[in-house]
Amino acid sequence: MKRICLTLTVCAGILSYSASAAEKYDTKAFRVITKLCTPCHGTPFYMAKQIDEDDWTYFFNTPGKLEKIHKTEPKALDSLKKSLFQKRKKRLLKFFVANSKFSGNVHGCDANFCGTHH
Ligand code: HEC
Repeated sequence: MKRICLTLTVCAGILSYSASAAEKYDTKAFRVITKLCTPCHGTPFYMAKQIDEDDWTYFFNTPGKLEKIHKTEPKALDSLKKSLFQKRKKRLLKFFVANSKFSGNVHGCDANFCGTHH
């Protein structure tokens, strides 16, 4: 009996661990995007879904590209200049790629995000 209990506990532990791992995302990146991009682009997950991972990589890794797209949007240019953005650029790109159009990632409800688009 004791052995069965132990096995069940271990299995339940593994199951809940992998379930929570699947839900993990970079909450720091999420917050930075919410602050700098969401006013125009919607929530970080919604924004990430608009284009695929190749496009995200292209927009982020082509020098001056993001600035060029936003040249008529002074507020966006301010966001892009912030050290908050500059320092976390790589993490933001990772977040966008991980949640991009064909990633299949769909997030449920949590303290940061509850399925709404804006
Ligand atoms: C003041 C509003 C504003 C803010 C803030 C803003 N953007 Fe944009 N962004 C736009 C607009 C408008 C377009 C569409 C430009 C076009 O299609 O010519 C755009 C387009 C883009 C595109 C091209 C792909 C697409 O979806 O059309 C990317 C990538 C992008 N923005 C990234 C960002 C990132 C990353 C941030 C935050 C650091 C950000 N933007 C903040 C207004 C904004």
